Amino acid sequence: MRYSIDVHKERTDRVQTDDIDFDDFRRQPLDEDTLRCIRYMHDVEHHTICYLRDVLVTPAHQDVEITTFLSFWAFEEYWHGEALGRVLEAHGESSEARIVAHRDGFDWHDRILPIATFVASKITSHVPAVHLSWGAINEWTAQAAYGRLAAKAEHPTLSRLLARIMKQEGRHIDFYASRARDRLAASNAARRLTRRALRRFWTPVGAGLMPREEVAYVASYLFDDPEGRATVARIDRHIDRLPGLEGLHLMDGARERLAAQAPRIAAA
Ligand SMILES: [Fe+2]
Ligand SMILES: [Fe+2]
Repeated sequence: MRYSIDVHKERTDRVQTDDIDFDDFRRQPLDEDTLRCIRYMHDVEHHTICYLRDVLVTPAHQDVEITTFLSFWAFEEYWHGEALGRVLEAHGESSEARIVAHRDGFDWHDRILPIATFVASKITSHVPAVHLSWGAINEWTAQAAYGRLAAKAEHPTLSRLLARIMKQEGRHIDFYASRARDRLAASNAARRLTRRALRRFWTPVGAGLMPREEVAYVASYLFDDPEGRATVARIDRHIDRLPGLEGLHLMDGARERLAAQAPRIAAA
């Protein structure tokens, strides 16, 4: 059954943390590998509202269903960032300082992106198909990354929190993937543009935002072991099932590239 935006509106909520004992992280702190991943995820979740700017310069802002979804999506991602911020704060790190530092550090790429996206959407009406497909891939990756992190960290309080975030990411997947499928199935031009854009420009979630060494580190830590590689293969199979996007091997290609970079960066 097609994913219903009305059901989504009813289910949207702040990720529940009232019964999460964040002081548990003071008694049993997370190891440095896990914390490094949490910092990455925190920064990416809090970047959602900035990413939204680039989506809304396209005809997506005229689509009532998409704008409805995006309103609730940004709200839920904000609270994911806040929840992860509380984990960092329990380890003596300021969530707000990280967000401020990130926004201060935006480079020319950040300034040019909404202009490039706007110009592209004046040339073709199919840019939303690219964003919806890209969104599905990001959500598959985010949900998988939380799952891998929970499994590796073996920290019951963290697992509890991440399971709740993953559940909401699952609904984001349902929307993005179903609407991407609709648009790709309806238009040969949308399929061609999306395939070309993903091949040429796609990078893993957070790669446009986080330092290169953090992207390589987190990707390798979470996905470059047997379970991680199986997860990556599963995401590639999801992408394969979107009309016109079969055989791209985006995730496995990125995993391989980033795994090759990680030791070089560590040694530098
Ligand atoms: Fe999220
Ligand atoms: Fe999400």
